[in-house]
This record gives sequence, structure tokens and C-alpha cells, in this order.
Amino acid sequence: MTMKLRKVAIVGTGLVGSSCAFSLINQCVCEEILMIDINEERAKGEAWDITHAVEYMPYKTKVYSAKYEECKDVDAIIITAGAPPKLGQTRLDTLGISAKICRSIVEPIMESGFNGFFILVSNPVDIIAYHVWKLSGLPKNKIIGTGTSVDSARLKTILSEKLEGIDTKSIQAFSMGEHGDSQMVPWSHISVAGEPFLKMIDKNDKLRNINLDEIVTKTAKVGWEIYERKGTTYYGIAAAAIGIIKSIFHDEKRIIPVSAMLNGEYGEENIYTGVPCIIGKNGVEKVIEIEMTEDELVRFKRSNSVLREYMSTIGY
Ligand code: 2OP
Repeated sequence: MTMKLRKVAIVGTGLVGSSCAFSLINQCVCEEILMIDINEERAKGEAWDITHAVEYMPYKTKVYSAKYEECKDVDAIIITAGAPPKLGQTRLDTLGISAKICRSIVEPIMESGFNGFFILVSNPVDIIAYHVWKLSGLPKNKIIGTGTSVDSARLKTILSEKLEGIDTKSIQAFSMGEHGDSQMVPWSHISVAGEPFLKMIDKNDKLRNINLDEIVTKTAKVGWEIYERKGTTYYGIAAAAIGIIKSIFHDEKRIIPVSAMLNGEYGEENIYTGVPCIIGKNGVEKVIEIEMTEDELVRFKRSNSVLREYMSTIGY
């Protein structure tokens, strides 16, 4: 019996893609990384550079530049390629170009016989995830968008600052809906050590004047704050993508807010949107359906209607 080497391919070896590769070798997630880019020389350069880092990592990872036709036995493919938004644009504004780029990637990958998981990073990620689901023909559980996973990390960081620096891992919090300006936070389900956050506000003078809508806006906008200062984001989103892959490869069954297909959950059909999901060896194993307040459900559905409006511009 020969060992099955775990392989991850990264399509788009720019700053996000190379950060994904560096995160994979740091956390020893897989045995091989295939670096694929339309700029083949860039893919080669990144593969060599990451390979030189392997020397100082706990385990060996073979990293090499590759082509779509080598994806047959790859376990997970991260797609980061897409059109970066111009200043003043939203992620949604890049849909037309990013959808075309996605098609040019997914079609040759599926021709290779690929039957693994797609982890989508390319924006607007919710609609790109839906697009890849359609293009690939793979079952919905194998198509996962990073969705509001990085937004939820940002939300927990903001809440930690309000809660005397409590570790973000000890804060149960997540945002839902579009990975973008219309996302929402189900405050009725945010808690710390089992205590509802809304109750903590009532009991704690330091929290009494907290503005929840401001926190949601800050969560949604902080990506742009980073963008304006360093030109793009890559570490947070890369770590989120690798967190999803780790939960699949190790069958962690971790609950992560990802962009997943809804077929009736929350009264929504035929849409990829940010929801808390159990992520295990079968990918999205279950969409967690929390009981939102009426106002929360209205905000969630409003976010999904923004996504549907843009989905229609590419024929969905
Ligand atoms: C982010 O918010 C790239 O959309 C991604 O960092």
C-alpha cells in the first residue's frame, strides 16, 4: 500500500497565492504544492523561493510550478486569480473580469480529471464560488468560498480590543452574508465564555455605549483600510483559506463561516453566501442554521439580495 501524498494546487501565485503556499509549508498541511500561474516564470520564481524556506520548516513539502493538466490527483485547489479592484471600486465591481478568468482556469482543470475540493479566494468570492460550482459540475460540498471567514477574524479582533484583549479564539463571533459591505453580524449569537455579548453590554459600563452597527461597518471596511496602506491584503485571507483546508485534511469538523451553497437553509435557495458550516473530510458537511432575530434575518436576506443582483449580471 503506497502512501497517498496530499497535494494542494494554488492558481494565482501573486501575493495571496504565495502567502497561501508559505502558510501551507509553515503548518505542514500537505506533502506537495503545485504553483500555477498564467505568468509561468512568476510561478517558477515563487516555487523556488518557497522551496528554499522548506529547509527551516518542521517537515518537507515539495513545491513546484505546474500546469492545469497536472491537477488530476490534487486534493484541493485554491484559486486566487482575479481582477484586483481599482481604488473606489468594490469587490463586486470586478465580477465580470474575474468570472472570465475563472472560466479559463476551471475548464482545463476539470479536463485533467480533477475531483477534489475548490477553495475560492478570488473576489467577489461568493459569486465566484457559485460560478465555479456551475462550471465544475462538482457537488456543492466540494466548492467552498473563503466567504466571511476573514471578516469573522477581523470582527473578533475588533471585539477583543473592546474586551480588554480577550483572545479572539475565546470569542464566539462571526459575520454572515456577502464578503463585502452588505455583510451582517447575528449579534444575538455572539458570546464570550458562554455569556451572550448583548448581556455583557448591559452589565458592563465600558461597553454600554458600544455601537454595534459601527463595529459591523469597521469589520467590512478594514480590508480597504489595509488596501489603502499596503496596496492589497494577503496574510489574513491566506490564513483563512489554509484554515479551511486543514479542517478538511484533518477532518477537524471545525465550524467556520465560509461561503457555502444554501438549498433552503435560512429560507434561501441556489446562492453561495457566508454562513457558519461544519468543515470536515467531505468539505461542507453541514450548514449551521442559527435562529436569528427578525431584524438579523432581514439584514442577512438583504445581503443575499445584493449578491443575487450581481449574479444576474453574469447570467445566473
Ligand atoms: C480580503 O478582504 C482579499 O477580499 C479579501 O482580504
